[in-house]
Amino acid sequence: MHMRTRVGIVGAGPAGLLLAHLLSQEGIDSVVLENRSREEIESTIRAAVLEQGTVDLIAERGLGERMKREGAVHHGIELRFAGAGHRIHISGLTAGRTITIYPQHELIKDFVAARLEKGEALLFNVKDVQLAEITSDQPVIHFVHEGEPVELQCDFIAGCDGSHGVSSASIPEEIKHVFNRSYPFGWLGILLQAPPASSELIYAYHERGFALVSTRSPEIQRMYVQCDPHDDIANWSDERILEELQLRLTTLDGWQLRTGPIIQKSILGMRSMVIEPMQYGRLFLAGDAAHVVPPTGAKGLNLAVADVRHLARAFVTFYQEHRSELLEAYSATCLKRVWRTEYFSWWMTSMLHRFPEDDAFQQRLQQAQLAYTVNSPAAATSLAESYAGLPWQFD
Ligand code: FAD
Ligand code: PHB
Repeated sequence: MHMRTRVGIVGAGPAGLLLAHLLSQEGIDSVVLENRSREEIESTIRAAVLEQGTVDLIAERGLGERMKREGAVHHGIELRFAGAGHRIHISGLTAGRTITIYPQHELIKDFVAARLEKGEALLFNVKDVQLAEITSDQPVIHFVHEGEPVELQCDFIAGCDGSHGVSSASIPEEIKHVFNRSYPFGWLGILLQAPPASSELIYAYHERGFALVSTRSPEIQRMYVQCDPHDDIANWSDERILEELQLRLTTLDGWQLRTGPIIQKSILGMRSMVIEPMQYGRLFLAGDAAHVVPPTGAKGLNLAVADVRHLARAFVTFYQEHRSELLEAYSATCLKRVWRTEYFSWWMTSMLHRFPEDDAFQQRLQQAQLAYTVNSPAAATSLAESYAGLPWQFD
């Protein structure tokens, strides 16, 4: 079968679905291809912290009704170490910017529903996606849908297929530069059926390792403990996880975790990765396809949104004004925010985790950095500014 569209979008994650929506609002048609099922993408537990800029963009573009109703607005976070909590007043330090806790899979549900309601192309369970003729002005995406081979001819391809997708792999090795950093630890993440343990997120540094208290709803909490990335989840009984959380989060005034049944648990590895350039011929990478950050700064989804905001504008300028300079500048424009955010995510990760090779000297440095971050208004403001998200003017 032969199909044609202006922008072929590979991947129905936040990047691909939001890009499709931004283009559709400007009358630019696209086809979104996803290799998993709708049920799977709508139930995968991932991010939850949305920057102010992300929330504003989604709401302005008409996709934020449920996010605004059900999302929880937070004005600060807590850094906890040496038995005491220290609040970083994010909005007080950033002229009122806030973060919103709204799960990524709920956003995906909203984006998918909006696309299908408009009757626009979104194909699930596609197989064998391959990109061809990328350097021509009519690139092609080959794939199999419902057993039938399809050839999708496009003006452009947006590679929004995450860090294990086919898009970044389609850029020749001699063209792309891949920057990698892996970390010698992972996170064990759980969903806990219990009331919130805290009204704000807690990032805890402890000699046993990092811990994070986050939330999903008034009934379900999300928590993480630093662990060996190669550990078997079978080694972590529910009792052991809850005990570890309590130990790492303990305070001198006796803070108590509110416990309940653990309804999901898994271990994830952590790494940093950037691909330069984010464009090859008529293929444009966006989101995790182009860059990965460790989750400590809660930045991956927000960076994906920043990318597609630029990409959508560049396509709109191309189609409506017949100008291609924003497309040509796309990679360089995005990489400024990407590298700043890579730095912040690496910095938060380095400050808050126990590295297996670290000696007592290194630990004292981490503790000194934590103390400085919470005690110096300048240092706290720097953290707050990055955590709340760089304003769009930064790009
Ligand atoms: P993805 O969400 O990975 O979407 C890519 C899509 O492409 C997927 O649906 C995939 O199935 C599909 N795909 C892959 N290959 C193909 C193919 N060959 N053909 C067709 N489709 C394909 N970020 C934050 O901003 N804040 C947070 O609080 C935060 N917390 C996180 C917590 C965890 C535990 C994890 C794992 C991540 C977290 N992140 C966070 C990061 C965030 O989830 C990602 O950065 C975000 O999902 C990136 O969106 P994306 O659309 O670029 O890629
Ligand atoms: C989450 O709620 O999943 C979460 C929160 C903050 C982070 C990472 C993940 O830094």
